[in-house]
This record gives sequence, C-alpha cells and structure tokens, in this order.
Amino acid sequence: MFTIRDIVKKYGERTVLNGVSFSAEERKITYILGTSGGGKSTLLKIMIGVVRPDAGEVLFEGKDITKMPERELDPYRKKIGMLFQQGALINHLTVAENIALPMREHTALDENIIGIMIKMKLELVGLRDFEDLMPSQLSGGMQRRVALARALALDPAIIFFDEPTSGLDPIGRSVITKLIADLNRLMGISCIVVSHAVEEALRTADRIVILYQGKVLASGTPQEMRQSPDPLVQQFITGSPDGPIAFRASSKDFREDLLVG
Ligand SMILES: Nc1ncnc2c1ncn2[C@@H]1O[C@H](COP(=O)(O)OP(=O)(O)OP(=O)(O)O)[C@@H](O)[C@H]1O
Ligand SMILES: [Mg+2]
Repeated sequence: MFTIRDIVKKYGERTVLNGVSFSAEERKITYILGTSGGGKSTLLKIMIGVVRPDAGEVLFEGKDITKMPERELDPYRKKIGMLFQQGALINHLTVAENIALPMREHTALDENIIGIMIKMKLELVGLRDFEDLMPSQLSGGMQRRVALARALALDPAIIFFDEPTSGLDPIGRSVITKLIADLNRLMGISCIVVSHAVEEALRTADRIVILYQGKVLASGTPQEMRQSPDPLVQQFITGSPDGPIAFRASSKDFREDLLVG
C-alpha cells in the first residue's frame, strides 16, 4: 500500500531521517518503533504530505505523495484518519462537536445523519452517551478514544497513530491497543502506528519497523524481531540499558540523539 524509499529529512545541519525505506501493507498493522527524537513523527508527517522530505519518495497507489501538489493532497488525506501525538481535541467543543468537525468540513451530510454517525463512532470506541460532555470532563484515555472516534469520522481506509498510548495508565493503554487491533481485524482498516511501546507492538503488529540513527535497523514480523540475532534489535525488544545502544556513550552521541527513551 505504502512504499517508502530512501527518505532523507534534514532540519538545518541535523539529518533526522537518513535514507529510510520500508513498505506497509494494506489491511495490516504496521508499527514503527524508535528512540525518542528519532524522527518518527517527522516520518508520519512526510507520509501525509505535511512535511516535504529532502530526498526519497512515498508511493501510495502508484503516486509519490512527496511531490504531490496541494490540491491532490486534500483528497488523499481524506482517506487517512490521523490520531495526533498531542492536542487532539478542541477544548471548547463538546465530544459530539469534535467528532462532527471533519464531517461538517468535508461532507455535505445533513445534521440528522451526522448525529447518527457520531453515535456510531462513539459506540465503536466504547463511549456511548458521552456526546454532550466537554473534553475536560474526560480522563486522558477517554479523550484519546474521542480523538480516535473523530479520526474515524470520514470512514478512513487507513489510520495513522502517533504514540496512541503514551501517557496513559496500563488499562488505558490496553484499551487503545485493543481498539487498534479491532479496527484492523473487524473493519479491515490499515493501521500505521508510531510508538515507543515495544510490548504493544510485539502483541499487536503484523509487521514492525525499527528506526535507528535515521535508518531502518530492522523490519519483520514480531516473531522475526524476537528471534533476530542482531544485538541492537535485541536491545530494542528487551529495552535493556546494557547493549550496543549506549545510554550515554559520549557527548557526540548525546548531540545526535542516540539516547534511549
Ligand atoms: N519543524 C522542526 N524544525 C526543526 N527541528 C525539528 C522540527 N521537527 C522536528 N525536529 C527535530 O527532529 C527530530 C525528530 O523529531 P520527531 O518529532 O520526528 O521525533 P520523534 O521520533 O517523533 O520523537 P518522540 O518520540 O519524542 O515523539 C528532533 O530532534 C526534533 O527536534
Ligand atoms: Mg513523535
């Protein structure tokens, strides 16, 4: 579905992505793991055409997203639901109004239909009857689920998740992880999930891509990752402080964001 080829992205002198290549299959869950500051969010932004890379291509249905003019990006983005890392909901709008937003903006559906759709989306994320609450009246995990309901508003075939479980308690994390699995298995939605959460990835992903030092360190099924003989991959999977990925090897490493976590 997506073929990412040799993506390079620099911010000033810093090379954040240095030749990233992988592919993501339709109707599958692809997890992209990596250290903090390693360019995961940047990669997602490149894949939705918000950030343009310095080199490389993102092929979707045979077209290169990175070179697409803005007017073609609009219909492309409509196919993709996006769950952002931060600031998901608009605080002065109710839950229902937040979910209605993309439908009011991008469709001509009448208000009765939008009302029904809101109920359906809330049902999907397990928050029936929450329409009239304000975001501030919800827990962090519930807010994340409302944001997911909004990402589902236009019935996307693909959803991009940027750290969907970060900052949640263990139950909140498993609720979201299970929702991702359900959306994929029950509705056939392709999920691209950027995350630190190795255990969740191993449990949920069809395919895992590990980013390290601006490149793909390894990719494969959870099983393949677990059995990888590469000590770097093993350290990633086990989250061990001891291994080839130094916690603080030198100031040079520090500058280049080789720190874990
Ligand atoms: N617009 C920008 N201008 C300059 N530098 C940027 C910009 N966006 C990101 N960066 C830098 O690029 C690097 C990668 O950022 P990015 O947000 O993609 O990392 P990440 O892997 O998503 O991190 P985290 O896991 O903490 O969310 C960081 O060092 C960041 O400071
Ligand atoms: Mg990020």
